[in-house]
Amino acid sequence: MEGKREKWMVFSAWPYVNSVPHLGNLVGSILSADIAARYLRMRGAEVVFASGSDMHGTPIEVEAIKRGIEPKELAERNHEYVKKLFEKWNISFDNYSKTESPVHIKFVQDFYRKVYDNGYIFDDVVQMLYCPNDKIFLPDRFVVGTCPYCGYEKAHGDQCENCGRLLEPTLLINPRCAICGATPIVKTTRHWFFDLPAFTEKLEKYIEGNKNLPANARNMSLQMVREGLKPRSVTRDNKWGIPAPFPGAEGKTIYVWMEAVLGYVSAVKEYFEKRGTPEKWREFWFDENTKTVYFIGKDNIPFHVIIFPALLMASEEGYVLPWTVASTEYLLFKGLKFSKSKRHGIWIDEALEVFPVDYWRFALTALRPEVRDTNFTWEEFRRVINNELNDAIGNYVHRVLTLAYRRFGQVPEPVEESREAAELSSTISKLVDEAGDAMARFRFKEALAKIVKLAGEGNAYLNRTKPWELDDGAAATVLYGALHLVKALAITLSPIIPGSAQKMWEFLGYSDSVERHLWEEAKEPPPPGQALKEPKPLFRKISEEDIDKAIERIEEIRRAKEASS
Ligand code: MF3
Ligand code: ZN
Repeated sequence: MEGKREKWMVFSAWPYVNSVPHLGNLVGSILSADIAARYLRMRGAEVVFASGSDMHGTPIEVEAIKRGIEPKELAERNHEYVKKLFEKWNISFDNYSKTESPVHIKFVQDFYRKVYDNGYIFDDVVQMLYCPNDKIFLPDRFVVGTCPYCGYEKAHGDQCENCGRLLEPTLLINPRCAICGATPIVKTTRHWFFDLPAFTEKLEKYIEGNKNLPANARNMSLQMVREGLKPRSVTRDNKWGIPAPFPGAEGKTIYVWMEAVLGYVSAVKEYFEKRGTPEKWREFWFDENTKTVYFIGKDNIPFHVIIFPALLMASEEGYVLPWTVASTEYLLFKGLKFSKSKRHGIWIDEALEVFPVDYWRFALTALRPEVRDTNFTWEEFRRVINNELNDAIGNYVHRVLTLAYRRFGQVPEPVEESREAAELSSTISKLVDEAGDAMARFRFKEALAKIVKLAGEGNAYLNRTKPWELDDGAAATVLYGALHLVKALAITLSPIIPGSAQKMWEFLGYSDSVERHLWEEAKEPPPPGQALKEPKPLFRKISEEDIDKAIERIEEIRRAKEASS
């Protein structure tokens, strides 16, 4: 089927780099996107997986002001730090960029010139909140107040984090400056606006017609469109940002959200430029058959389902609109939301200091808040690692590999027909299909449950067939089936725990990368005669003491960090 390869672009929301992401951030966006990208590659698709650091905007400015450094310095420093962390987390980005990238900045400015020329940008003199103390305008996160829609008291100038509605600062009831707490005054200034209402009909059609969007994203976005869209301000008076390219807008920058979403395009462009095929990004972005999935937080839905598609429409160039967005519910830490200010939770740098990356990837997938908020506790972590990763999967793999390695040193040739083995083979096919189906729906927790079930079937098969009691011929047949199941585990686990899956693969005697293989190959047994490698246990149990030590170590890391900042 040459030329018929599926084309996918897999994206995760670009993290603000005012701080390090925590485990809740990771599981909802970047880790999920990574699993999707790895799975789709194994389905044979042509995949571009990109994200980057969201460097501009008030979150970084506020943090930089607090620390008394330049936003640029803070953003670049944190970008390097999180970029390395994502490598350690084994995130298979094709491109992890940043919004300060020259390709992005140029792309954004050209894009807005185009949208301006198309007549969708206008300017107006408006009332803005201004802090008389700090002597700055207060857009976005510089201002806190009560949401006029839902009454939430800590809504920000651009969005209410409680009900998700888009806001403008002057809509806030009882606004306060986020830096000093003072009540702002109203000052007039000129700003440039994106004519979002011009796209009302098209957006409604797009959202209604897009059956891939999850119900929550569809309903929320349709409601917003039907409630009436307002022009969205594109410019800011802040210095930190991308200079607005509109005539007369000198000194103004582009509102962070209105440029960060364009990173999805610019990062793909940059990726192909780096690879020496600078035109190839068009084959992805301008082909209506390209599928795109965006892994985002729930609060990001209006930006991805309303604003971003409207901007793409406004360019009138034929960009593919989001095929779907995927968001999770919240991961709670010991029953409460992760909180940076309260230091409640676990951050992605700390996690890797206390347990191996695949333990985290596995546990986060097993606890992925797929249909409801899910609680992360250390007890749950320990249970999942011990019972599922270590006992069900690790022990099975080790048992089979050890038996086969000691007795045959290679994948044995099955010598006789065996009903048990035939049944096992059809069970493998069935569970591989079910896991694949869940993966394709981005239900990774569900997929993992099928894979754990597969391992359970393997253990039951061994207990039933007892190859250690059989003569060589019968044992060869039984172990051949058992090794097939190890291969199926290596392939299906590869998107979730790539490092450990690769080790399983090598124990089976392969010398290439399991991730280069196709998901479907899990249904085929390994070749008889292939030399096995001496197996070593892949995982180990976690004791209560290990957990206590981990908690202590995390405390230590935090103290050291605080002392140095
Ligand atoms: N930085 C935003 C957040 O953390 C997400 C931006 S997604 C983007 O909420 F694509 F627009 F960059
Ligand atoms: Zn609200």
